[in-house]
Amino acid sequence: MPITIKEISALETYSVRHVVLRVGRPIEDCAMDGDDLETTFHLGAFEGDLHVGVATFLKSEPVDLPFSVASDASYYQLRGMGVVADQQGKGIGAKLLQEGIKKLKANSVDLLWFNARIKAVPFYERLGFEKYGSAFEVPLIGTHFKMYKQL
Ligand SMILES: CC(C)(COP(=O)(O)OP(=O)(O)OC[C@H]1O[C@@H](n2cnc3c(N)ncnc32)[C@H](O)[C@@H]1OP(=O)(O)O)[C@@H](O)C(=O)NCCC(=O)NCCS
Repeated sequence: MPITIKEISALETYSVRHVVLRVGRPIEDCAMDGDDLETTFHLGAFEGDLHVGVATFLKSEPVDLPFSVASDASYYQLRGMGVVADQQGKGIGAKLLQEGIKKLKANSVDLLWFNARIKAVPFYERLGFEKYGSAFEVPLIGTHFKMYKQL
């Protein structure tokens, strides 16, 4: 069945966030800062009625970028990116991210950045993102790298 990508609410991300990104933790832990801001948007991937993936895009400035950018540059952060385990490796994550980038470009956003789990770094590199800075630990989750891409 073809995958469709559509905008969803913050609450609608929880079912996928919970089983992919907050495994074994209370459902309340699925909430992320900025989820309900007017500038934030959430994309869901669906196979028919089945919700199989999520990604959240939050207006937010990066820290410690390794180069200087125009003072009026506009930035977004990717958060809560996940695809349910039995649907991974089928191009759904790439599709979600590409849809998000399309929307950001249409809104003249200059750069997308995020904290990537070390296991997901090769996925993002395949899509043209670059690591910057040193590895760091996020409590309960593990090692991360900052990554970015100019849009
Ligand atoms: C990371 C994640 C979102 C990727 O989504 P996905 O749907 O599995 O990835 P895709 O099938 O779209 O992969 C796109 C490309 O990246 C590659 N890729 C995906 N995950 C990879 C990995 N861990 N290592 C190496 N390559 C990977 C795929 O092989 C594919 O390459 P291709 O275009 O040459 O075929 C998904 O695996 C996931 O939810 N993982 C667990 C949660 C997580 O780590 N989220 C990210 C938090 S920062």
